[in-house]
Amino acid sequence: MKNLIIAANWKSNKTKEEARIWIEEFSQFEIPENIEVIILAPYTLLDMLSAYIKVNSLKIKLGSQDISPFDHGPYTGEISSEQIKEFADYVLVGHSERRSNLGESNDMVNKKIEKAKKAGLKEIVCISGLEQAKSLSSDDLILAYEPPGSISTSGPNAKPKDPKLVSDFVLKLKEFRNGNILYGGSVNHEDVKTYTSLDNINGALVGSESLNAKAFVDLIKNAS
Ligand code: PGA
Repeated sequence: MKNLIIAANWKSNKTKEEARIWIEEFSQFEIPENIEVIILAPYTLLDMLSAYIKVNSLKIKLGSQDISPFDHGPYTGEISSEQIKEFADYVLVGHSERRSNLGESNDMVNKKIEKAKKAGLKEIVCISGLEQAKSLSSDDLILAYEPPGSISTSGPNAKPKDPKLVSDFVLKLKEFRNGNILYGGSVNHEDVKTYTSLDNINGALVGSESLNAKAFVDLIKNAS
């Protein structure tokens, strides 16, 4: 069976109490051997979630949704790689919402990758096209292909990408990139397998459908 990474991108959602209810429900489910589940949670939830995972010996990895491009020091509002590393193993970098809402450039993405590497975090880097992939300074990354217009929150016409087009894109990506590639963009429990069964796709980055524990469990069950 193919090994898969299924990452939940909670974005700017969930209070501590909501996250506690989610993890209590989700942890009743036994995660299949071949699936690595990663929760990309808001910074405010990392402490509580990491403690819960540890105490209950859960097979769940944690990640943050961003990282400071600086070392620790006088950078008001930033969270440094070593602060994240206390709670998490992964970091999401370059999500299209950050690129468009906050003007995050390819250069900034590379600075963040450099800091993540220094702290021993594993990076999931979002790309929406080949140019963004070509601009990455490291080859040792998990890439998440999230086509513009396919992310559920990008507007009323958002729809998952035609799997054939995802396959075509990933083939071009493979000409110059190694490593795992996830697909993201409106993935749900009904269509997840359409993507995870594609050659060269190693999992999914899931936004909206990951907010509900039951829907996320169904998605994981259907992924392989
Ligand atoms: P979506 O979000 O699954 O709600 O489309 C995916 C993402 O933005 O990472």
